[in-house]
Amino acid sequence: MVSPGEEFYRTYTAAQVKAVVAALSERAEFPYELTYLGGGSRLWHNGETVSNSDNTPVLGDMDTLLTRYAEELLALAPASWSVRIVDLGPGTTRPVRGLLRRLLDRSRLEGYRAIDISAELLALARENLVAEFPERAEGFDLRRGDFTGSDLAQVLSAADPHRDDLGPARFVVLAGGTLYNFADPGRVLRHVGEAMREGDVLLLTLRIDTGVDRPPFMDRVSVGGPYKPQQLAGLDLLGIDRSWYVPETGYDPERSEVFVRVRFSEPVAVNVTMDGRQRTISFRAGDTVVVWRYLYVDRSALVDQLTRSGFAVRLLEQGESGQVVLVAATLAERTRTD
Ligand SMILES: C[S@@+](CC[C@H](N)C(=O)[O-])C[C@H]1O[C@@H](n2cnc3c(N)ncnc32)[C@H](O)[C@@H]1O
Repeated sequence: MVSPGEEFYRTYTAAQVKAVVAALSERAEFPYELTYLGGGSRLWHNGETVSNSDNTPVLGDMDTLLTRYAEELLALAPASWSVRIVDLGPGTTRPVRGLLRRLLDRSRLEGYRAIDISAELLALARENLVAEFPERAEGFDLRRGDFTGSDLAQVLSAADPHRDDLGPARFVVLAGGTLYNFADPGRVLRHVGEAMREGDVLLLTLRIDTGVDRPPFMDRVSVGGPYKPQQLAGLDLLGIDRSWYVPETGYDPERSEVFVRVRFSEPVAVNVTMDGRQRTISFRAGDTVVVWRYLYVDRSALVDQLTRSGFAVRLLEQGESGQVVLVAATLAERTRTD
């Protein structure tokens, strides 16, 4: 029997502790978004660290696509309107800073708002924005919250009253593949769509399946990795020793998802204090816990999903690696809210 140390309870709110217990006991998963809090966030300070695979071209595309297509994106907003960036999960802000610079250069930036679940990443985002935009960053509005729930209204609401003949149009950015880490990306898309209004543009950067350069673990589960240290950070916080399990990386054809999970080599019981009471979650040898998932679909499935979620795709560009796409989408006619 193992109990999480103080750091676990310092890192997570009571509601987040409950979410961890529910995810572990109901679907044998550690909620990946919570690994951006506390120790897991430290891995973002020097960029992403991958244990044993070379992802450099893909990461390069993730960082540059929004800037490379800035003019095409601006053309999607009414010509005289200013633009507000609403960044959902800004992380380091690396991918969005070039776009912000372009908007500033053209005197089209009305403002920048961001929401992130991690206080640590928000501090890093603030630091990076201040360093790059010392004259403007003070006015940037960074909030802590979960954009998959009611906190989204802090930064994006269909009823936002501050709009006149000069806009703003809001560019809602969900970059770096964040959308496809959720178990139900369609639900997240519909939730974001409900907070958008005519003139707003959703911007996604995602890695997709192009049929070439497919990860080798798609055919056979790879025992031992590749994985990123962040993906094990949640289990570390729970006090689950890395010698008690073996990481596995693979592909689930039914869900079209790549995953990292751990397989316990011995029985493990975790004793978590929740609402002042002890709650034990037990695993047997051979049981698995998912620590990361990523929907890995091709271009047409991506477009289908956006269409089913109430969006019309306006632009879809591929990065130099061929594996990352930038998608710009607006609300489809029938779901417009104003
Ligand atoms: C994959 S990183 C992407 C960061 C950045 N957009 C980029 O492209 O480099 C995901 C970011 O979203 C944040 N995040 C994940 N789930 C979230 C949620 N439900 N609500 C708010 N922020 C979330 C994480 O803390 C992290 O900063």
